[in-house]
Amino acid sequence: MNASTPFATQPSLSPQQFVDKVIGHSETHSAFNNAKTCGFGEAPVNIALSKYWGKRETSLNLPINGSVSISLPGLGTQTELTLSQGEHDQIVLNDTLLEPHVTFAKRLSAFLDFFRPNEHAVFHVDTLNTVPTAAGLASSASGYAALVLALNDLFQWHLSDQKLSLLARLGSGSASRSLFPGFAVWHVGSRTDGMDSFAEAIDTQWPELCVGLLKVDVSEKAVSSTAGMQQTVNTCELYQAWPDKAAKDMELIQQAIANHDFSLLGKTAENNALSMHATMMATWPPIVYWQPESVAAMHAVWALRQQGVEVYFTMDAGPNLKLLFLETQKPAIKQAFAKMQIIQPFK
Ligand code: PMV
Repeated sequence: MNASTPFATQPSLSPQQFVDKVIGHSETHSAFNNAKTCGFGEAPVNIALSKYWGKRETSLNLPINGSVSISLPGLGTQTELTLSQGEHDQIVLNDTLLEPHVTFAKRLSAFLDFFRPNEHAVFHVDTLNTVPTAAGLASSASGYAALVLALNDLFQWHLSDQKLSLLARLGSGSASRSLFPGFAVWHVGSRTDGMDSFAEAIDTQWPELCVGLLKVDVSEKAVSSTAGMQQTVNTCELYQAWPDKAAKDMELIQQAIANHDFSLLGKTAENNALSMHATMMATWPPIVYWQPESVAAMHAVWALRQQGVEVYFTMDAGPNLKLLFLETQKPAIKQAFAKMQIIQPFK
C-alpha cells in the first residue's frame, strides 16, 4: 500500500515474527519437534456477503474493513503435506506437478517459507480442488485454509480456530473465513501486530437458504484481487466512503442472519457487492471485472424480482454471479437459469 493513504498502518511484527508468535515457536521452544510423516487439511470455499476490499497493511494482510461470509460445503480444497529434503518444494495441483517458477507454486512456497523447520526442509504438497473448474470460484480461500490445517496436522500443533484463522489470513485474506462451515465473520481488528484480525463462526443455521453459482467466464482474471484492492485504495476517491459503508453492511448482514431476514440479507449483499465494484470502476486505470453476460444476468435477476421472485446476487473480483434465494423459489430460479449449480449450505 502507498504509505501516504490515510488507511496505511505500520506493522509491529514481521510476517515471520507473527507466525512464530501464533504457533508458539521461539529460541527456547521449537514448534517442529512433534512432526508426523504426513498432514492433511480440508476446507470449503466461502462467499462474502459483505466484502473485504482493501488492505491497511500488506505484509500481514490486514484489512481496512471486516466482512461476513458463507461457506459452501462440498466445494473446496483437500491438501496433503509431507516434509522432505531437496532443492525445492514439490507442488502437485489437481494431479499435475507444477514447475517451481509458476505463480501458484511461487506464492505457495513463499508462504511455506514461514513454516520450515530448518533451511534444508522442503515440502511436498498435494492439493486437490474439489471446486469444479466450471464453477468460477476463487480457490485461494479454501486453498490457504486447507494448507494451514495440513500444517497444523503435520506438526501436531493443536491450534485454536482463532490461531488457524490468523495463519490462513496471512496466505489470503478471505482464507481466514474458510476455516468455518456456515456463516463466518472476519473482524477487522486494530492492532498493529495483526493478532485481533481473525474470523470466527456465526452459530446460526439457515436450512432454506440457497446459493446459486452462475458461471459467466472462468478464465483467469487479468487483475488479481490483491492488485485490484491496492489500486482502488491508492487511486479511487470514492474509496473514502467504503470503510463506513462496509462496516454498516456487516452489521446489517449479521442482523439479517440472526433474524433470518432474507430480504435484508439479499438487499444488503447485492448493494454491498455493487458498491465494491463501483469503487473499482472509479480507479484509474478502471477495473471492470464484469462481462456483457454478467450485466445480462444482473438484469435477469432484477426482472425476476419485478415478477415477485425474491432473488439477489453478489459478485467477487470476477465476472461470475452468485445468487441468493430461499428454497421456495428454487423451481422459478431453476427455470430461469437452467444450468446453474445450486447449493444449500445448511442441508
Ligand atoms: O482474499 P483475497 O485476497 O482473494 O480477496 C478477496 C476479495 C473478495 O473476494 C472480492 C471479497 C471477499 O471478501 O472475499
